[in-house]
Amino acid sequence: MKKIAIFASGSGSNAENIINYFSENKEINFSFIICNKSEAFVHERAKRLNVPSYTFKKSEFENGEVLTLLKKEGVDLIVLAGFLLKVPENILKAYPHRIINIHPALLPKYGGKGMYGIHVHEAVVTEGEKESGITIHYVNENYDEGQIIFQAKCEVFPDDSPETVAEKVHALEYKHFPEEIGKIIEKI
Ligand code: GAR
Repeated sequence: MKKIAIFASGSGSNAENIINYFSENKEINFSFIICNKSEAFVHERAKRLNVPSYTFKKSEFENGEVLTLLKKEGVDLIVLAGFLLKVPENILKAYPHRIINIHPALLPKYGGKGMYGIHVHEAVVTEGEKESGITIHYVNENYDEGQIIFQAKCEVFPDDSPETVAEKVHALEYKHFPEEIGKIIEKI
């Protein structure tokens, strides 16, 4: 049995999609969802999915409290799904090549601090990009700079808005993120 913890900060539609994808898989268990915002919608989804969800402050990620919980539960893989804090060094050190993130653009473009969610799609549209997509990557100490595992592209047309690009990118996320998680966890 492999154990996954999901870190999220907002709506949690990816978290829900991932958990549903593996719902019949007896080899994979979702230990909990960890969130840095008590009011985030991901907690509602967690309740519906019967997965525990906890809120931790930034300081509690940094002072080792979150790591203690991860270790106590025997978590094997950490999946960031719309998680907006930087992962602190104590967790990075304890989980080398065991933390993955999804970014809603084709890194190295449109990454870094402040580049999340709709802000990414706004920048893509403003720059007149002809394509965007998703990047799944390992997490290191810098935002969106870890080794790339997988990318998928979608077209961006002149009449696309940030919202329509977001829809296309979400569709790619829902299709590919669970599949890539499945491949990674198999090798652990
Ligand atoms: C997703 O599109 C994810 O790629 C993005 O936030 C969204 C979360 O949606 N992540 C980032 O921008 C990280 N820099 P969700 O909460 O509905 O899964």
